Amino acid sequence: MLRRLHHEQPESFAFTEANRAWAEAQITKYPEGRQASAVIPLLWRAQEQEGWLTRPAIEHVADMLDMAYIRALEVASFYFMFQLQPVGSVAHIQICGTTSCMICGAEDLVGVCRDKIAPNAHEVSADGKFSWEEVECLGACANAPMAQIGKDYYEDLTAERLVEILDELAAGKVPVPGPQNGRYASEPASGLTTLKEFDSGQTKYNASVQLATDIGDTVKRIDGTEVPMLAPWREKGANHQPADPAVNVKEPPKQEAAKDQPVEKAPKAKADDTGVSKAEAQAKEKGKPESKRAPEDKAGKAEKAVPKSKAKAGDKATADAGEGTKPELLSEAREGGPDDLKYIKGVGPKLEQALHDMGVFHFDQIASWTDEEVAWADQNLVGFKGRVSRDDWVSQAKILAEGGTTEFSDRAKKGDVY
Ligand code: FES
Repeated sequence: MLRRLHHEQPESFAFTEANRAWAEAQITKYPEGRQASAVIPLLWRAQEQEGWLTRPAIEHVADMLDMAYIRALEVASFYFMFQLQPVGSVAHIQICGTTSCMICGAEDLVGVCRDKIAPNAHEVSADGKFSWEEVECLGACANAPMAQIGKDYYEDLTAERLVEILDELAAGKVPVPGPQNGRYASEPASGLTTLKEFDSGQTKYNASVQLATDIGDTVKRIDGTEVPMLAPWREKGANHQPADPAVNVKEPPKQEAAKDQPVEKAPKAKADDTGVSKAEAQAKEKGKPESKRAPEDKAGKAEKAVPKSKAKAGDKATADAGEGTKPELLSEAREGGPDDLKYIKGVGPKLEQALHDMGVFHFDQIASWTDEEVAWADQNLVGFKGRVSRDDWVSQAKILAEGGTTEFSDRAKKGDVY
């Protein structure tokens, strides 16, 4: 199946405040330099918030994880659990069409969807409430035919029962998931033949149905109002994370340091519908002999040659690795503390820390940089090469240093960005 970004996209995406806090906590599960591993949970949360994955959402997640947009798009377009087009506001119905379900009547269920929702899969119904698709085996073959609706399974379905379920959902109710023909779980339809002493009457529903009804979020989107423990693993210092996130992660042993080299990243080109970007052109560039490569590629190689563990950006070793003129740096923030450099578009928490390590704490420092100094900073922010000029930090810093605000800093103050 061809999976592409939808032709109509919203202007922007932002996590709700609570979802952003949840997402940031997820990132701390992974060791420094491996934050991209959080891409699936973050994309999933974005989908739970909006119903489907928009291009701005994919790019937002990529920015949070310092990934090239194309890498995040690859994940989003590979896994079928990610919806790349709008879905119904109430529910997206996923009918299993694989062997067991097909033999037991899945085609009738698809017929119901065509009649009651929309003629084609991935079309939203006229009232905007529903959409549907046919999916591969969902692992409930003993209760075929079945459908996943929202987060739960509706099993042992008939066309008539699916019609009723859709009507109930449209009326704002959430039918009890699980078997719809009176079966308790997946015992024989004619009754138990073994383990007859088992008394299913002890509980009204089987364990998964009970849990689904207890949680009650079958078709609820995650609006961020029910975010439980954000990062319980931090309490235990698990997954390489210090109990206090403000404490720096320990430097890896010397022989391990090479593993933590920043991965050379593709440029953050807008991922287009076909998933083709400038990354391809760059990959071709790499295939050329070194003598024929563009200067930037050679510079990237120079950057890679500097072990991250030794790469304090202000060091002579790294200063020599690039071009430009080293600006005046500070050993610590001036009295009153550092400015919030995250008000500069393109500077996240990691980059802000890298700037502090380099000796940059204040807007007026960046505002005063000449082109030569920008070139030096671009080269020496290890892992963030080219960011200073890409996002025009100097212009932003000039405004902020004079007490002004930018559209981005206004959003950042409101907590509207990561
Ligand atoms: S064939 Fe439908 S759940 Fe397995």
